[in-house]
Amino acid sequence: MAQAAVTRTIREEYEERFAGSLALHARSRSVIPGGITHDGRHLKPFPVYVNHAQGAHKWDVDGHELIDYAMGHGSLILGHNDPEIAEVVRRQLEHGTHYGAGHEGEIAWAEQIRSMVPSAEQVRFTASGTEATLLAIRLARASTGKSIVLKFEGHFHGWNDYALKGEKTPFDEPQLPGIPKDVLDTVVVLPANDPEAVEARLAQGDVAGIILEPSGASWTTVPLRDGFLAALRDLATEHGAVLIFDEVITGFRWSPGGAQARFGVTPDLTTLAKIVAGGLPGGAVTGKTEIMDLLTFKDEPGWNASRKVRHPGTFNANPLSAAAGLTCLRRCADPSIQEGCDRVAVRIRVGLNTALERHGVPGFAWGDSSAFHIALGETCTNRGEGDLRFPEGVPARALKMSGSSPLAGPLHVGMLLEGVDLFNGGGLISAAHTEADADATVAAFDRTLARMGDEGLLTT
Ligand SMILES: Cc1ncc(COP(=O)(O)O)c(C=O)c1O
Repeated sequence: MAQAAVTRTIREEYEERFAGSLALHARSRSVIPGGITHDGRHLKPFPVYVNHAQGAHKWDVDGHELIDYAMGHGSLILGHNDPEIAEVVRRQLEHGTHYGAGHEGEIAWAEQIRSMVPSAEQVRFTASGTEATLLAIRLARASTGKSIVLKFEGHFHGWNDYALKGEKTPFDEPQLPGIPKDVLDTVVVLPANDPEAVEARLAQGDVAGIILEPSGASWTTVPLRDGFLAALRDLATEHGAVLIFDEVITGFRWSPGGAQARFGVTPDLTTLAKIVAGGLPGGAVTGKTEIMDLLTFKDEPGWNASRKVRHPGTFNANPLSAAAGLTCLRRCADPSIQEGCDRVAVRIRVGLNTALERHGVPGFAWGDSSAFHIALGETCTNRGEGDLRFPEGVPARALKMSGSSPLAGPLHVGMLLEGVDLFNGGGLISAAHTEADADATVAAFDRTLARMGDEGLLTT
């Protein structure tokens, strides 16, 4: 791509036009480490600060309207401020936010989950996805009496001590500051899409459970090959390991019944968060009664002290999240919600690949369901002007790190200048996103590519 004379760089323009965010970030850094409250919000030279949102859009403190692809980190499938959810939350506020007691809302919420998710026989609520995966792993260990957990390269299951190993590259990093080696040794990380490797590790006889994102790592950045989920199902059954699908992102998004319904493979346990709580804080573990029953108090001698799995949690199933979650899930039971989101995502993925072809620069856009990802700097062997689910010829580590590659930052900032807020180098679509949003996003990408080319950031 030919370079052109640049009067103002992407970074210079960002610092000028987003000066309110720059000032807030400087203030934030003095009181919040690094100035951010989620590692995923790290952005150079500084992240954007937002003060209101509606539908598929949000507005930053400098008044820019942005098409939002973070969408509550995937939790807002109905868009920001959905009127029905806002109304039930308002009504619940008038009735109280925490009873320190059971309430009918939590039962109706659990019943709704059971009616939608194939693996759901019983449900236990948590306050987040991280807590859900922590509980699921504890249940797997308690039910099998074994301690090893198998997970896959690049798969994200929240930030609890058992989940982080192997999430970032290099996947075999030996140390994670703050997590004891003894804990890390109970977690085995394998490459995905390799059933033989899974079978060989299971054959050692010490595996309690297998946990994975059924979309592939980080909502399909490293997609799974057809048949891998079914192979895991068979292997887990054969070797007595608990199969856990982490559907924190895919739950109610990949289909009303999540990825397990879309792909026709039923795990033993499922972890949920985000959409399950309708955009408010919350999560859940659901699955087979014989495993979930380990959470039940019983009159059998010794059970409560030595067999029961413990699980308190101040904000489990709090009434506000229950009200929002139940309302959201009832709406998500209609598959036209997910189908509409998927259609917009296809339009975006196709548009982005077409723009890359036109500019002739290395990169590709890919994804599944209502997710899209963008990689710049290298090209897969099967890029064209169409949709792309599985980029061929690119190593898993490069796919996984596409959102934090050296070009991802300038792309993110360049897209902000054009009115689009990407999320981890891509995005998650809501029912509030329109075809016009998709087309505006592709046009913004087109202009950003041209600009990045002018700055000499893209090589052909
Ligand atoms: C697949 C997956 N599992 C677990 C989590 C952790 O959820 P939370 O951020 O609610 O703790 C996330 C968060 O993004 C996730 O994407």
